[in-house]
Order: sequence, then C-alpha cells, then structure tokens
Amino acid sequence: MAILVLLVMSIFRAVVAAQISYNSSVVGEIREIANDLQTVQWMKMIRREIHRNPELAFQEFETSQLIRKELDELGIEYVWPVTGTGVVATIGTGSEPFVALRADMDALPIQEMVEWEHKSKVDGKMHACGHDVHVSMLLGAAKVLQQIRKQLQGTVVLIFQPAEEIGEGAKHMIREGVLDNVEAIFGMHAVLEYNTGVVAARPGELLAGCGSFEATIRGRGGPAANPHQCVDPILAASTAIISLQYIVSRETDPDDPKVVSVTIVDGGSTSFDLIPESAIISGTYRAYSKQSFYGLRRRIEEVIAAQVAVHRCSVEIDFDGKEHPTIPPTINDERLYEHAFHVSSMVVGEENTRISRKYLGSEDFAFYQEKVPGFFLLLGIRNEKFGSIHTAHSPYYTVDEDVLSVGAAMHATFAYTYLVNSTNS
Ligand SMILES: *[C@@H]1O[C@H](CO)[C@@H](O)[C@H](O)[C@H]1NC(C)=O
Ligand SMILES: *[C@@H]1O[C@H](CO)[C@@H](O)[C@H](O)[C@H]1NC(C)=O
Repeated sequence: MAILVLLVMSIFRAVVAAQISYNSSVVGEIREIANDLQTVQWMKMIRREIHRNPELAFQEFETSQLIRKELDELGIEYVWPVTGTGVVATIGTGSEPFVALRADMDALPIQEMVEWEHKSKVDGKMHACGHDVHVSMLLGAAKVLQQIRKQLQGTVVLIFQPAEEIGEGAKHMIREGVLDNVEAIFGMHAVLEYNTGVVAARPGELLAGCGSFEATIRGRGGPAANPHQCVDPILAASTAIISLQYIVSRETDPDDPKVVSVTIVDGGSTSFDLIPESAIISGTYRAYSKQSFYGLRRRIEEVIAAQVAVHRCSVEIDFDGKEHPTIPPTINDERLYEHAFHVSSMVVGEENTRISRKYLGSEDFAFYQEKVPGFFLLLGIRNEKFGSIHTAHSPYYTVDEDVLSVGAAMHATFAYTYLVNSTNS
C-alpha cells in the first residue's frame, strides 16, 4: 500500500512539474509573509476576537464587520452585504482567470467548556468547528496576496460565507452570483486526525452527502378495540422501518458504504386504546458518491411507499426539510487534486502531505463543487501538548493556532499557482 501511494505521488509530481514553472521567489515570499511573526500575531488576534464573540448562522454581523475592517486596512476591495453578512473580496488584475478561496464564518449553539483567556463570552454559543480559524486564515491569505498582487496573473476571489453549519450559506452565496466567471474554488477545514503542519486530501469522494427524510403515514384512526374498522399507520410505519434496513444490508455494495437510520418515530396517539390517524418516521441517509446518494434517496421513497401500501395507508415524504437541507457529497476535482498536492509539497513539504480517508460528515462546500471544479483540503490541528485533541462540535474543542500560517500559505500559494497555470496553459 505504502509503495503504491509513493508511486502515485511521484507520478503526480512528474506530471505537474513537467508543465508548470512558477516564480519560486514568489512562492518563497508567500511562505515568508505567512510565517512572519507579525502576520501570525495578527491572525491570532483576529481568531481570538471571533472566538470570544461567536455568532450563529446568518447572524455573523460583528464577524462580518471585523472582516471588512481588516480588508479596509489592507486596502482590499470587497462587496458587502452578500446574503446578509457575507463578504466577497477581490485581489489581482480584476480580469480573468478568476480563482476563489472560501472560508465559513458561523459558530455553533454549544456552551464552551474550555477555560482559557479567550473563551466564548456568549452563553450557549461557541466556535467548536474552527470557523474562527478558517476566517483568520483566509484574512491571512488576503494579506499575503495583497503584498504579491503585482505577480497575480488574474483575480483571486475571497469568499467569506455565512451559515455553513445549517447547510444554507453556500447555496445563498451561489444564488448571489459569487461563482460568476470563477474557474475553480478552494476551501479547507481543520481536522484532528493529523498533527499541526500536516495537510491531507484525496481526489474524488472526500465527504459524504447528507440528507434527511420525514414520512407522514396516514391511515384511519379509531377505537383500538375495533381494528378492522381502522387503517393502522403504526403497523405500516413499523414494517417500513424494518424494510429500510435491507437497503444497506441487502442492496448495497459493501465497498460503497451507505447509512440509513430512522431516528424519530411519532405515533401521535393520545390514548392507549385509540389507533391514531397518522404516524411520522424521520431519519437520515448518507453516501459518498452522487449516484449512491441520490439512488439511496430514491430507494427510501420506494420502500416506504410500498410498505405503507401493503397496509392500505398513504404517505407523503419530505426530503428537503427546512431544518435539515440536503447536502450533496463533497467530491474533489482530480485535476485540482494534482495541483493541490503539488502546492502542498511546496508549502509543508511532501513528508507532511497525506492522502486522507473519506469522512461521513458533510460540508456545504459541496454546493460550490456542483457548479465549478472545487477542491477541499484538510488541515491537521492535533497537538497533544497543547490540548487540541477534542473532536469538532465538542464543548472542549481546542485549536492549535500554529495552523494559521499553514492555512494562509496554502490558500495563497494555491491561488497564485493556479492563476499562473491557468494563464499559461
Ligand atoms: C519573480 O518575482 C519577483 C518578486 O517576488 C520579481 O522581482 C521577479 O521579477 C519575478 N521574476 C519573473 C521572471 O517574473
Ligand atoms: C495546469 O496546466 C496544465 C497545462 O500546462 C494543465 O494540463 C493542468 O490541468 C493545469 N492544472 C490546473 C490545476 O489548472
């Protein structure tokens, strides 16, 4: 396995290196500015300020204001408001090609349990998923790119996006036209699986698509003593739940993992001797490829409808619940993977570049990837000495801030080299 990985890595390197030649002094300059003590202190300050004042989806007012203040000071142009709190900045020639870098801004409804100087001041809200870090790294990249702007052979679009946690922000930003003319988009997320300084990704499927369903099964209510005069939605719901289990166990290729879980059952009856009028079952489904994901959704619908029909009930199934919108799988463009791999070996070195596994979590970055080729990268933040060992969405979530300069340099190098490559190919 290891040999295969090494072989694949060297093929990529040979392919990429043969075609592109970057100005190595610019690449060096990017790294120097991103690692400069002053830049690092400034990124830390921004991250901590956002961390102290977490704001939930679509309410990122002060976060947005802070971003604009810093962009103003850097002399970078931007458009605001885009979907309320969103900010879209541009650096470079102002003309084609356009490459986009994206960071998400929102926090979570979680009470922070980490006791430290910059703990959340807002009860019940916390940056427990690193979006404070993501914003700060993208501002870091903005600072770097602004300093090397004369070397940019096109335009970098910096997207500060609201409401990732509820799966809505990216959709709204796209509707506002942030991807118009954009050739490719790049995003990243802090992960605990790798030590700080390591970056990881994979071509193709990276994160699962995540969907929900809510089936309202209708029968005919009445006294439980006379079941023959009723149509029982509870029995119909029960057989539907059992049959849903067969989709994964009997219809799914074991090499293509999927999840179907029924998580809510609501019989709605108020009395032990009444058969209810209707019953509701809800749950979630996940898969890595688009085909599997949308196929799963189709089978859930067919299985519930068929089982309910056996029991003479009718059903309405809602797949796009307002509170749990469908998020498609995050699928990395193969060409951008080669590019990112090359960038990563320039920024953190090949020894710190890994091929990641797939994750069953999901990301609304996937919506951008449905429109233009996109690449999502994972940045290690694990540091046992520092205590960054708790998973995202934990009240103990802690980030090793040494990741800030890595993220800023990855963003900026990706953008600079992408534009060189795009202009000269
Ligand atoms: C490479 O970049 C440096 C600035 O970092 C610039 O002075 C130099 O002219 C560039 N070289 C070429 C060949 O564009
Ligand atoms: C870089 O340019 C080469 C052509 O020189 C092209 O084949 C390749 O797909 C490009 N990669 C990216 C990420 O644009």
